[in-house]
Amino acid sequence: MSHSISSPSRRSVLLGSAGLITAGSIFRFPTPAIAQGAPLKVGFMLPYSGTFAKLGKFIDDGFRLYVEQQGGTLGGRRVEYVQVDDESKPESATDNMNRLVGRDKVDLVVGTVHSGVAMAMVKVARDTNTMLVIPNAGVNEATGPMCAPNIFRTSFSNWQVCEPMGKVMFDAGHRKVVTITWRYAAGQQMVGAFGEGFKKAGGEIVEDLALPFPEVEFQALVTRIATLKPDAVFAFFAGGGAVKFVKDYAAAGLNKSIPLYGAGFLTDGTIEAQGASANGIKTTLHYADNLDNPANQKFLSAFKAKTGSDGDIYAVQGYDAGALLNAGLTAVKGDWSARTELVKAMRTAKIESPRGPMSFNAAGNPVQNVYLREVRNGRNELVSIAGQAVNDPARGCKVS
Ligand code: PHB
Repeated sequence: MSHSISSPSRRSVLLGSAGLITAGSIFRFPTPAIAQGAPLKVGFMLPYSGTFAKLGKFIDDGFRLYVEQQGGTLGGRRVEYVQVDDESKPESATDNMNRLVGRDKVDLVVGTVHSGVAMAMVKVARDTNTMLVIPNAGVNEATGPMCAPNIFRTSFSNWQVCEPMGKVMFDAGHRKVVTITWRYAAGQQMVGAFGEGFKKAGGEIVEDLALPFPEVEFQALVTRIATLKPDAVFAFFAGGGAVKFVKDYAAAGLNKSIPLYGAGFLTDGTIEAQGASANGIKTTLHYADNLDNPANQKFLSAFKAKTGSDGDIYAVQGYDAGALLNAGLTAVKGDWSARTELVKAMRTAKIESPRGPMSFNAAGNPVQNVYLREVRNGRNELVSIAGQAVNDPARGCKVS
């Protein structure tokens, strides 16, 4: 049943059961085109300010680009937006999410970037049975112990993009590595996953360095790395913080003596601002700028035409959130209330993403390639596939 005829016909059927309206009367109401029905209200809860501001903007732009390519619709439903700036502040996250769900009455929420904020969103989404599509935050729990049928991710898990780097760095001959990150869920889980892969391969973590999110006073930690003289460094920073870290690392001359590796967020969406200091950094991520597939070419040229900027992983993740919802809504002919069927269609969606093929595991996390990239010529260029169709283990997830 389509959304647009569901209200009158259901009411009619109820009355009909009391013998007041015959089945024939249902057909007196002409069926309007689905796109003319009530719009689908999408709540964006993203960082539009702070160190992750650019990341939030690119997710928003990527999602809107996908919808524009469908004539302003998803599965035939017109789309309208409500935006909340979450400022990457976990302490405001529950209120922000409740405002979107309770006051603005959005049909679904797309958000966010920061793992700590996402955890609060997941709790509200579970309590209110609100559909949540996470277009970045990698917090393992969202598709682990906190998994639920109404929670999806079009990005990655913190484990997924970093575990494969352990073997990559060991195979490159590195044996003693220092890690450095912000002290919060994403940083700790990414560094932990890298360490899991690296120790399994036979490597040793010499020291884990960290500073509070979103601080950027890196000097003391950079000095500590120079003192420890590891074979290499593995880092997670993103957005404005990643720009500063990569510049500080190069300014101290460490890029000449201690190779810098990281999760791909270190150099994605930040590479232009980092300039020559990013040259040679190797990272793992579920995307590379020069992936040679038709979906990536189409996406990059359309994103450039719309925004004037080069697309990056954040824009891709927003774009694919649109693609996932479109797959679900198309299967139910725009009927958002057909939740069971909608969720099933989304869980089984196969998307030809700019990142390559993307499907979903039972916990709602993407199954996808993880690429080794190197910064060359101001781009994150593909070196090799570090992991083919990598599936997060979804530890602790009870939904099937
Ligand atoms: C996160 O907090 O999960 C996070 C933030 C920024 C990124 C990646 C992950 O670029």
